[in-house]
Amino acid sequence: MTLNKQENPIGIFDSGIGGLTIANAIKKRLPNERIVYFGDTEHLPYGEKSNKAIRNYSNKIINFLIAKKCKIIIIACNSAASVIENEIITYKKIVPIYNVIRPVVDVIAKKYQNSRVGVIGTKATIGSNIYQQKILELCGNINVPSLATPLLAPMIEEGFIKGDISQKIISNYLSHNKLKNINHLVLACTHYPLIEREISKFFNGKVNIIDSSKIVANYILSELQNKKLLSKKPQKGHHFYVSNYTYSFENSTKFFFEKTIKLKEVKLFNH
Ligand code: DGL
Repeated sequence: MTLNKQENPIGIFDSGIGGLTIANAIKKRLPNERIVYFGDTEHLPYGEKSNKAIRNYSNKIINFLIAKKCKIIIIACNSAASVIENEIITYKKIVPIYNVIRPVVDVIAKKYQNSRVGVIGTKATIGSNIYQQKILELCGNINVPSLATPLLAPMIEEGFIKGDISQKIISNYLSHNKLKNINHLVLACTHYPLIEREISKFFNGKVNIIDSSKIVANYILSELQNKKLLSKKPQKGHHFYVSNYTYSFENSTKFFFEKTIKLKEVKLFNH
């Protein structure tokens, strides 16, 4: 199968709507590209699942995106990226696979030396310790306190973004001792940029919030340039797939991609 064609789409996946923050940044930074998106809404939240289950879901989705002839695949889910990191190498012979962790770690190690960089994410991501480990491999003088904030992704997926309930949950997590005196905060879950304003408000705008979507889009642009895989002319028709149709997913997709979108439910998993 020839996947390395400039006109082929970029495959992106997440457990739900979180990866749309990455897809949206890709659409803006690389307007000629066509996106094939998969949201595994049937298994959300990934952050609470076992590593074995997350690997199994991710492998099936990667194979689906390969069948859709994606020229590269972006794992737009920190939880999945943190547990399948070492296994995706086998796929690289067929298709290059990128995640949302590496580009962010590179930027932090370069720009934020001698500082305290807090990380919030799901239980799977924080439990894997991947940010701390990768940042310290590149730069020894950054302090990386990390905190699991498991209610945030399901809350966002359900559309609880503004209002008292969400602000209380956000405040409860962010007032944790571990996050005292941080200079920067990594939103290590692709759902969290949707509550970036509320998070920033909690810190009175005094903490620099690191949203991975733009960083990842810039990284992908330079990778496609290097590999001579950038599409030269606009490719039409983004495609969105979910494992379980939800009204909130369709709404979020319309919010990001404005026009009428094609959302299809596909059954990839036999239970
Ligand atoms: N958006 C996903 C992430 O970046 C996870 C949300 C979830 O399914 O728990 O980790």
